[in-house]
Amino acid sequence: MSDFEQLISKRRSIYNLGKNINLTPAKIEELVKSAVQYCPTPFNSQSGRAVLLFGNASKKLWNITEKHLQKVTPPEKFSATQSKIASFAAGAGTVLFFIDDDITKNLQSKFPLYAEQFSVWAEQAQGMLQYIVWTLLAEHHIGASLQHYNPLIDEDVRQSFNLPANWRLTAQMPFGSIEQPADDKTFQPLEQRVKIFSD
Ligand SMILES: Cc1cc2nc3c(=O)[nH]c(=O)nc-3n(C[C@H](O)[C@H](O)[C@H](O)COP(=O)(O)O)c2cc1C
Repeated sequence: MSDFEQLISKRRSIYNLGKNINLTPAKIEELVKSAVQYCPTPFNSQSGRAVLLFGNASKKLWNITEKHLQKVTPPEKFSATQSKIASFAAGAGTVLFFIDDDITKNLQSKFPLYAEQFSVWAEQAQGMLQYIVWTLLAEHHIGASLQHYNPLIDEDVRQSFNLPANWRLTAQMPFGSIEQPADDKTFQPLEQRVKIFSD
């Protein structure tokens, strides 16, 4: 089995995160930049954006998230919500993923034939970008999960980190040391999911 083949089963959603990682922030920055650079995009439009938060910047993100969740969570459920947010804040950092919607709009006006597809393809390319970052982190024994507190936190995130209005938040990926491995997961039979034809 190739290293990559092994890696795709090693990548899991890791929720119990710590700060005890072996990679420097500079190395993590390099991984995220490689993912952004080499991820395929429709018409090579390069619509993916990422923001890498370490330390207090990552804490700030999760404080913002907690503040907004408090407004929409029933009081009796809020302590569970707080624990969940604290588990993300306990990691070494967070990657924020965005789509540059100006790129989608430009493509729509330039290629009207595919106008309806460009926003779908931009989302698909985001999934690829998120997967590359997630899997590269896993390769370096760093745990991560994929969270979606957008659009609740979008405006606050944009203002707090001074981000362009055309960057639309699509996901948040808290990462850190793996303090508890993922539980086993179940799989549907592959015969029901993959069909092979040879003539
Ligand atoms: C598009 C997408 C959206 C997801 N959204 C969330 C999410 O909002 N919160 C979360 O905890 N996990 C989220 N996940 C993670 C899945 O729940 C997880 O990948 C799945 O249960 C399989 O577990 P594994 O990642 O450990 O292999 C998402 C995964 C994908 C691919």
